[in-house]
Amino acid sequence: MRIQEDIASEFNEFSANYTRDMIACVPHYLKLISSFTTDLPLSFDPKNILDLGCGNGNTTAEIIERFPNAEYELVDASQKMIDLCEYRFRDYKVRYLTSYFEDFTFTEDRYDMATAGFSLHHCDSEEKKTLFQSIRKSLKPGGIFAMSDLMISKKSDQHPQLLEDWKTFVMKSFPNTEKWKWLMEHYAEFDKPDNYDDQIEWLKEAGFSKVEIVFQEDYWIHIRATK
Ligand SMILES: C[S@@+](CC[C@H](N)C(=O)[O-])C[C@H]1O[C@@H](n2cnc3c(N)ncnc32)[C@H](O)[C@@H]1O
Repeated sequence: MRIQEDIASEFNEFSANYTRDMIACVPHYLKLISSFTTDLPLSFDPKNILDLGCGNGNTTAEIIERFPNAEYELVDASQKMIDLCEYRFRDYKVRYLTSYFEDFTFTEDRYDMATAGFSLHHCDSEEKKTLFQSIRKSLKPGGIFAMSDLMISKKSDQHPQLLEDWKTFVMKSFPNTEKWKWLMEHYAEFDKPDNYDDQIEWLKEAGFSKVEIVFQEDYWIHIRATK
């Protein structure tokens, strides 16, 4: 697989074997997906849910199983990923937007829940800060924003160790170095992870009242923030 020229084309290409590759290339992927519904408040009954960077729908699928009657809005730059979701969620109330986050209009007080599964590491620090503010604005009071991602800056002293551990994990499924080589090209070109403590700070600065880590193994983390 070769690296594409932009994120939409990259994920159009990636869509074919997406779930298989994520499970094999992202440590704790399934746990990080299931964290979206772990220990939600018993009274939490969202009616409107936004999924940013839905991909082929693995994050939405986790939530839709718990909240099948809610109305969903799925945003992704990749048309092929949106096509997969249209088929996968054909029996549910879902609106689709093929759009980059920066072109998406965040309506005030619209959602009870917003999610981002492995999508915000494609945004740089400033884009994340702006998105956290827009997401908070678009949530209703008491609304929840949840994200799973790799959360370590490439400049961190711990980053070389992360790469070593990550390579060991990927090589278990793909002993041939081709997949790791492709992953590192993708990582260099499209991935801009930030430290989790910085992101927690930015969420608080954006005005979220409660910010908690729901799951963490090394730098593979699920954060939940409440408006
Ligand atoms: C790694 S996939 C994650 C998919 C899914 N949420 C999951 O948990 O597996 C990232 C998705 O985010 C989308 N994406 C990345 N940056 C984006 C941006 N700036 N605007 C819109 N979509 C973006 C990509 O097209 C891709 O489908």
